[in-house]
Amino acid sequence: MADVLYFNGRFTTTEERVLGVEDRGFQFGDALYEVFKFVGRRPAFLNEHYRRLEQGLRALEIRNPWTGEAFAAAMRELLGRTEFDDGIVYIQISRGEAERSHFWPEELEPTVVAYSRRFRFPDAVKKELGVKVITTVDRRWHFCNMKSVNLLGNAMGKKQAQRAGADEALLLADGFVREGASSSFFAVRNGALITHPLDEHILPGVVRDRVIGLALASKIRVDERPLREAELFDLDEAFLTSTTQGVMPITAIDGRAIRNSRRGAVTGELQQSFDELERGSADG
Ligand code: PDD
Repeated sequence: MADVLYFNGRFTTTEERVLGVEDRGFQFGDALYEVFKFVGRRPAFLNEHYRRLEQGLRALEIRNPWTGEAFAAAMRELLGRTEFDDGIVYIQISRGEAERSHFWPEELEPTVVAYSRRFRFPDAVKKELGVKVITTVDRRWHFCNMKSVNLLGNAMGKKQAQRAGADEALLLADGFVREGASSSFFAVRNGALITHPLDEHILPGVVRDRVIGLALASKIRVDERPLREAELFDLDEAFLTSTTQGVMPITAIDGRAIRNSRRGAVTGELQQSFDELERGSADG
């Protein structure tokens, strides 16, 4: 069945072929995207996703088609038209469509698409069992703080993980761990969290930010510093965070078990408090 699709201010379905071949998102990767989760047709952390989108568009000088209110209204209408209760919404805004040239015209109408998708979120069993990860080289560009659609480096890491029987790839550069190919990364050592600081090497994850807040509220120390690759051998716990996976325990890195492959206590506590916060966000 076709999904509901928002395209440049109107609603259609994903059966309609809406993009032109000279759309700059298609030809130059000149576009940003967002993914948010909805539960019972109510969006979680909608404002946070809008804020990240808005900041990225401003930095790239792509015209923002939406005020915060207009964005929320469009997304609520999209969810109102959606025929299932739980899933994700994928949003993509490109600079627009123009005759192919590296020089973009100053005044372009952005191309805006958003559609809802069913998504199987991890169940209680998966959340306890966790995931295995591999390490690989970070092949991405230098503006990883923007949620750009240039995801080939991420996809290559992810495919390598899949072929190795793992779920996610940790991206390494200059001897440091940056983040997952589609997730933020946290280590736990002596009861404290360690995660990469916000800079051009990682995406400012919405869940990352919430989890740091929850940790601090529970008096768990948070060190925002790059973790050395060698430190991966000496962790108490590790977990990933993302919109689709929430807080997900890591049970093995490159085939080495972490914590006897069991979810750690700090990870479990943060997972539970994040799930509560997310439910509250989707209710509000
Ligand atoms: N990915 N880092 C990267 C490289 C990501 O692609 C993502 C999310 C995150 C986590 O961000 P957040 O907590 O805001 O979801 C970190 C999305 C879900 C995706 O590409 O599908």
